[in-house]
Amino acid sequence: MARSIELTKPRTVNFAGSELVLFRGADGVARAVDAWCPHMGAHLGQGTVQGNALRCALHHHEVGCAHSPWKVEERFGLVFVTRRDHTAPLPDVTNRDDFHFTTSAPVEIDVPWANFVLNGFDLPHLEAVHHRALLKPATITHDVGCMRLEYETRITGRGPSDLMMKLLSRNHVRARMSCFGTVGIVEANLGWTRSALICGVSPRPETQSNEAWPTGHSRTWLSFGVPKNSLAPRLRAAMTKWLYLAFLSRDFVVLRKQRLTLANVDDESTLAVADFLTSLEDWGREG
Ligand code: FES
Ligand SMILES: [Fe+2]
Repeated sequence: MARSIELTKPRTVNFAGSELVLFRGADGVARAVDAWCPHMGAHLGQGTVQGNALRCALHHHEVGCAHSPWKVEERFGLVFVTRRDHTAPLPDVTNRDDFHFTTSAPVEIDVPWANFVLNGFDLPHLEAVHHRALLKPATITHDVGCMRLEYETRITGRGPSDLMMKLLSRNHVRARMSCFGTVGIVEANLGWTRSALICGVSPRPETQSNEAWPTGHSRTWLSFGVPKNSLAPRLRAAMTKWLYLAFLSRDFVVLRKQRLTLANVDDESTLAVADFLTSLEDWGREG
């Protein structure tokens, strides 16, 4: 994963145990190729964009994408890479075109990526960590390639972001969490307006495993969405980012160095998303 604004030059990324080079062709379309030149193996991270291909620095052969096994799509200001034969739906939000998204620099967290995804579905921690009380029972639904949790809360916290959220939402927040494997999406409905948070987690290459629960660090890519027709759009974007980061920073603190034993998980929605994650094709190897 990468940020769209970073594709001004070729970028090397790790994905599913492979090293790839992402670049934007002359037509503006983002593409990905395997990182090593098919000619004599030079690393294409040193290459330059030539039309819609990458020119290898060593002998100037042009490496195109016609046979690349990778598919690239941009949305939310982020670049998503999947295998060309991967059929699961890409992460999405309701009426995506109604939102304007801004990304921030990725955050390195000392917690395995799957723990972070699980946290979004951990209902008991809402009160303990985020100071939110459920107004009614949450609902869990499954779609193809996606699991969703919807809940409504009131705010019990007294920190600056809690008080601001209380004011903006009239103390009633409807939230929808969607898990698409390594990408989690929060959609918040405050009654008079909506917002969206995209969290993409990249497993660190050395921590990937097909069998066991992942361990080690992860990198989180964030994108914040506000309605395009907002009044004072910059202020809205800044406020939305502040509120989401205040929310997430509580998770970053408490999840740090977590060692999770799945057998001890006793929350229904956390267990459901753990089952969902481990059932995914390429479990533990997506990036
Ligand atoms: S190694 Fe890339 S062109 Fe020769
Ligand atoms: Fe959390």
